[in-house]
Amino acid sequence: MSNNPRDQYDLQNVISSNRFAGLWRMLTGYRLNYISATVSMAFAATAKTVTYLMLAYFIDKVLGKNFDLRQLALMALMFIGLAALEGLSTFNAGRLANFTAESVTRRLRNYLYDHIQRLTFSYHDRTQTGELIERTTSDVDALRRFYAEQAIGISRIFMLFLINFIAIFSLNKTLALASIIVVPIILVTSIFFFKRVTKAYEAYQEQEAILSTTLQENLSGVRVVKAFARQDYERQKFENDNWEKFVRGRRLLLMHSLFWPVSDIACGFQMLAGFFLGAMMTINGTITVGTYIAYAGLVVWLIWPMRNLGRLIVQTSTGLVSFGRVMKIIEQVREPLETAKYRPLGVLLGELKFEGVSFEYNQNAPVLKDISFECQPGEKLALMGSTGSGKTTIVNLLPRFYEYTGGHIYLDGVELKDYPRKYLRNQIGIVEQEPFLFSRTLRENITYGVERDVEQEEIEAAARAASIHEVIESFPDGYNTLVGERGVTLSGGQKQRVAIARTILKNPRILILDDSTSSVDTETEAVIRAALEQLMKNRTTFIIAHRVQSVMNANLILVLDKGQVIQKGTHEVLLEQEGVYRQIYDIQTRIEVELEHEITWEESGERLISSHGKSTQLEIMSEPVLVDTAFEK
Ligand SMILES: Nc1ncnc2c1ncn2[C@@H]1O[C@H](COP(=O)(O)OP(=O)(O)OP(=O)(O)O)[C@@H](O)[C@H]1O
Ligand SMILES: [Mg+2]
Repeated sequence: MSNNPRDQYDLQNVISSNRFAGLWRMLTGYRLNYISATVSMAFAATAKTVTYLMLAYFIDKVLGKNFDLRQLALMALMFIGLAALEGLSTFNAGRLANFTAESVTRRLRNYLYDHIQRLTFSYHDRTQTGELIERTTSDVDALRRFYAEQAIGISRIFMLFLINFIAIFSLNKTLALASIIVVPIILVTSIFFFKRVTKAYEAYQEQEAILSTTLQENLSGVRVVKAFARQDYERQKFENDNWEKFVRGRRLLLMHSLFWPVSDIACGFQMLAGFFLGAMMTINGTITVGTYIAYAGLVVWLIWPMRNLGRLIVQTSTGLVSFGRVMKIIEQVREPLETAKYRPLGVLLGELKFEGVSFEYNQNAPVLKDISFECQPGEKLALMGSTGSGKTTIVNLLPRFYEYTGGHIYLDGVELKDYPRKYLRNQIGIVEQEPFLFSRTLRENITYGVERDVEQEEIEAAARAASIHEVIESFPDGYNTLVGERGVTLSGGQKQRVAIARTILKNPRILILDDSTSSVDTETEAVIRAALEQLMKNRTTFIIAHRVQSVMNANLILVLDKGQVIQKGTHEVLLEQEGVYRQIYDIQTRIEVELEHEITWEESGERLISSHGKSTQLEIMSEPVLVDTAFEK
């Protein structure tokens, strides 16, 4: 990370309705380099032109006169000097332009990476990852090419055109004017193609983004693809998308290749006409042979910019399109982390009050309706309800991942919206329903949210509390084991427990456990629950669970249905009521009783065998046949 003040430039300033203005602003901090590149380019162009003018002088004035060795040597030296100047200047211009292009896009890439992670949850909900990857890679690269090649190329073209025109003009006015007749034709065709190429390139980039998304989704969902044996379907889908990209790419190239012959033919005619006119004028004696030879050299470099101007105008469109696509991200408003009306001092107590809270992810599709409840600091609150009833949504409001649209939430007596998000997120710990672990070591994953230095003992204590320490120790690399693609693959339950350890270590004031023990067996759940019991002491805790066992000792249980609280109270109170809670309780206890029954039945079977002295419990498990024979007796 560089501390260069140029890197601190806020790219929000680049936003502009005029793309050229935006591109110019993007150069902030590097403009001097870029201008130097242009000046170098001018030197190179001038050196080239002067070479031809000297050639005219050499032929007319030196050659044919008395052979003066000193003058000849001087001329030779000057030619060499000019060639060296041209070479060096061209090299320097290229170096500076490339340096600028790389620097500006490096800054842009860093900015985009940071910016994207600061955008709101709802932006990420509606934006595809592939699309974002495409814009931060392919489009940024198009911008790099724009600065390294196209923008500087255009300066070079103007410089060459101007200097060579002036030179020819100084040789002969008629010849000069006759040599640029084709310019309007080139300009008109360039603009004609510019518009079409812009459209074609836009379509091409869009399709490329679709392809990236398909690829990215297929890779992250490769298990589902395999499990459903959908490889053929996915291949077909990819091939279709890829074919569409091919079609659009072909259209784009067709535009380019249609443009080329048009401009080439026009320029070819222009050159021939110039040569012809020049030759006629030499024969008539209007101009000298030296002038004609210089003209023949100069006119090539007058036509060259015209030919390339069109190409560059057309290519510039790609830079402009990519600039627009990148701008779409930069324009997005960040989620303010620090700004807030209220400046909390110290830590939260954890007193909460929901007053008629409503919320919708998308307009006119309410997900939460009129939610009201309150709890004291340190209390345990449980949320139950069918899937999709809004449990996760309620807890997502607390760290201000989303803003509630109606009602009030008071945290320690202050409206939640007045708290800075960063503060809330530091004070609230969530074990998410589908925890995500980074492809880093287990240690880095567990210490992820902690900003201070942590001792190994602390990490291990957290891991023990989450019942994951033994599992980690069993890996050859222990806490240094890499997770994910390059390391071990953890089971769902193990991941959940690593996530629990991560939250334990964070030591939050409000703890949210979103279905946190759903992927572990009942026995492990009991162990974790006992450990969490410790952790829940003195801090407000939200437990989302489906098992009555997990919620029965909460201070308040909310039963949700379709975004509304349908029952509210303690376990005892809710059991008294006719309602969903009792139904769930009845079903779950019935299942448990049945299970218990089965277990005792098996146990009695075991006893039967043991009493016969023929088998042990271990054998029952490994060889069920023995059980059968035992029963037959
Ligand atoms: N990011 C989102 N954008 C739009 N709608 C969403 C979003 N997240 C959830 N929803 C919708 O909100 C409703 C409530 O979802 P929520 O995740 O809160 O359910 P839940 O009670 O946690 O369910 P589960 O027990 O399955 O986890 C669902 O209808 C869901 O489709
Ligand atoms: Mg949920």
